[in-house]
Amino acid sequence: MSFLPPAPDCPKCPRLCGFREANRQHYPTFFNAPVPSFGELNAEFLVVGLAPGLKGANKTGRPFTGDYAGIILYASLLKFKFAQGDYKESREDGLTLVNCRITNAVRCVPPENKPELAEIKTCNEFLKREIAAMPRLKLILSLGLISHNAVLRATGHKAAFAKFRHGAIHKLTDKIVLLDSYHCSRYNINTGMLTPAMFDDIVDRARALLR
Ligand code: URA
Repeated sequence: MSFLPPAPDCPKCPRLCGFREANRQHYPTFFNAPVPSFGELNAEFLVVGLAPGLKGANKTGRPFTGDYAGIILYASLLKFKFAQGDYKESREDGLTLVNCRITNAVRCVPPENKPELAEIKTCNEFLKREIAAMPRLKLILSLGLISHNAVLRATGHKAAFAKFRHGAIHKLTDKIVLLDSYHCSRYNINTGMLTPAMFDDIVDRARALLR
């Protein structure tokens, strides 16, 4: 399967196209297109988020960049040497990922951060291609249930194959393992569902699984 990311004007999800057009009017300086994955295709580690935030990744054009969740994610990736440099709310910050790539289950910003099931299914074709295009991929970190289910679908599994649980590890194929985490969203951090220390533990596990 060849690697083909969504086009800037990807027409596949009518609701998301309408939202994109409205955002292009309201926020003409924003990226306002499917947000490309970040990091090298030959990485062993793939982090899969949910979808770009309106004034975060949809503004900056890089996954998690400018979103609250990015503060938590990039701090842990830096701590466990999956990233180098300084994270700032800009894709021009010079930050680089080390043996790591970041993508989203849905590439376009959804209204109210809530993609519909049909949109998640439609966008799964890109996640599937992404995974197929990573020859050295060993570990996928899913952030939240939607990402977990999208990864199962993209690797040819039914949802019943593996139940989402924070910290669970599932063997997806002979080569690829899935690690689940609660999403590092502002909501989960503010409600105490996930703490930065719990998230560090997950990324530390990822580091250990790749040794
Ligand atoms: N920003 C992203 O790019 N993805 C998420 O899942 C959350 C914020």
